[in-house]
Amino acid sequence: MCGIVGIVSNKSVSSSIINALKKLEYRGYDSAGISTLNNGIIEEKKCSGRVENLEKILFENPSSGDLGIGHVRWATHGVPNQINAHPHSTEKVSVVHNGIIENSDKLKMEYEKKGYKFKSQTDTEVITIILNDYLKSEDLINSIHKTLNKLVGSFALGVIFKDFKDIVVGARRGSPLAVGYGHNENFIGSDSYALKSMTNKISYLDDGDFCILHKEKVEFFNSNKQKINKEIFEVSNEDNVADKGDFKDFMSKEIDEQSNTTKKCINEYLDKSRDEINIYNIPIDPLKIKKIRLIACGTAYHSCLMAKYWIEELTSIDVEADIASEFRYRKVKLNKDDLYIFVSQSGETADTYAALEKCKKNGVKTCGIVNVVESSIARLSDFVLPIHAGPEIGVASTKAFIGQMLVLFLLILKISKDRNDIDQKEFKKIIEDVKKIPNLIKLTLTKQNEIQEIARDFIDAKGTMYLGRGYSYPIAMEGALKLKELSYIHAEGYAAGEMKHGPLALIEDGMPIVVLAPKDRFFEKTISNMQEVIARGGKVLMITNDTSETLSENIRFKFQIPDAHPNISAFLLTIPIQFLAYHVALLRNCDIDKPRNLAKSVTVE
Ligand code: AGP
Repeated sequence: MCGIVGIVSNKSVSSSIINALKKLEYRGYDSAGISTLNNGIIEEKKCSGRVENLEKILFENPSSGDLGIGHVRWATHGVPNQINAHPHSTEKVSVVHNGIIENSDKLKMEYEKKGYKFKSQTDTEVITIILNDYLKSEDLINSIHKTLNKLVGSFALGVIFKDFKDIVVGARRGSPLAVGYGHNENFIGSDSYALKSMTNKISYLDDGDFCILHKEKVEFFNSNKQKINKEIFEVSNEDNVADKGDFKDFMSKEIDEQSNTTKKCINEYLDKSRDEINIYNIPIDPLKIKKIRLIACGTAYHSCLMAKYWIEELTSIDVEADIASEFRYRKVKLNKDDLYIFVSQSGETADTYAALEKCKKNGVKTCGIVNVVESSIARLSDFVLPIHAGPEIGVASTKAFIGQMLVLFLLILKISKDRNDIDQKEFKKIIEDVKKIPNLIKLTLTKQNEIQEIARDFIDAKGTMYLGRGYSYPIAMEGALKLKELSYIHAEGYAAGEMKHGPLALIEDGMPIVVLAPKDRFFEKTISNMQEVIARGGKVLMITNDTSETLSENIRFKFQIPDAHPNISAFLLTIPIQFLAYHVALLRNCDIDKPRNLAKSVTVE
């Protein structure tokens, strides 16, 4: 992962680099660093931890120079300390890197034999050394080209040089890199969002490309060192502002936004006057789709699992949901009649991107469901459906999950209707339910204080389980993931009916357990499974739209979601499980927006 930025300008660049790094912190916050070229000398400053630590260093000891590079790290090779922080520099070259150099050990040995000494444990430092070495005998273009050719793995790079006083070099293979155009200044960044306060004119490097930024122009080269031109895109300013407002953290803001983001998404896709879903040009005629394969990671994968249930329920199409890191290496039989759907908030997740690339290489039809429309996955997919959730900054995905489910649900409905798998009357009924989602979410959001109270039951728990059947099962998995990543409490999402096959052994007196039991065709069965848990001492938080009093005496707490059709209950179950993870983490003093060891955008495999 990691985030990189580079600027060449006619004014001092360090504060602009710091501002861009703050926007890139979602990609990693293990360390931060900057190199500028000041009076012909490379000045490198770096520290472990957040960009604010680097800012303090620069406040005491400012960096000058009108060109420079910056980095935020998510550690892969080497512990997250100051020595392993990027940039990695010699007197002649300074490099920032996002990605993994898979042959770094071999290269290190090769260059140690030549007499080079390495300071860090990183895979990145070899790039600095190799480039430094080539520059002794080759010109700039050849040195870059030969260096890139020695590297195996994925990377986006930013480089400055002692002897090339007015350029910054960028390169891409596997990891994304955007180029921004300003007035007498140009930029590189891991994404366009980092550059947005400086420019809205963006180009993207493709795999194998490298570029040279000058103040007044940018030169692009392909993997054969041939000069190439790049299309310039204007990125929208609409989602420019991502600030917390009056909220304590981004996560609470993003949870709170979900009524509005779903409303916006529905407005984008639903023609309310005709009750039609505005999704056209699906790359395979819906009548001819044999199978749908959904591929993603983490939370986005849970939205795919949800979609699997909907596809089975609402269409006659076969369906499979896959974890991208598995799919990309499996010998999956790819079929031209199947539709391959890739779901990703960031649109940059390395495993999801690689799985998409595999499909593209095999000529099958792909659809990307993303939040970031300028992302790599959006650009590579045959067909893109944005979720319109606006920037999601909290590492724990919330509004993007709801948005992914919503777009998947609308796509499934559209396909189902086009195939006549669903009749007009049923379709209209479901559309009416869809229209209710934003208001029902709003209602559920007002009950945050109830979850705040019950969260106390979880703070000292050794572990917990989230149980659900049918549509509630993917939400149970999502609930467990949210709790794990935010509060560091072990949690498992389980199919409630599967408990008796082993996990029931984990239940002990006082163990808090979350049971998702909306009034659907699984309700009674889920209740039986819940009783089995209660009988063994489990303290149950039941989330349901059942209003009967009969169960109340056995359960610790019943959280009531508004009454809704089972098709859309997933949207409402999601709110309390988000609140629960949030409040448990808050009570345990965890960093809400930046949980330990994680990053927002996972651009390494
Ligand atoms: C969710 O809270 C996560 N932080 C994580 O699982 C995330 O959903 C996953 O890494 C996929 O990211 P993407 O949606 O950007 O592809």
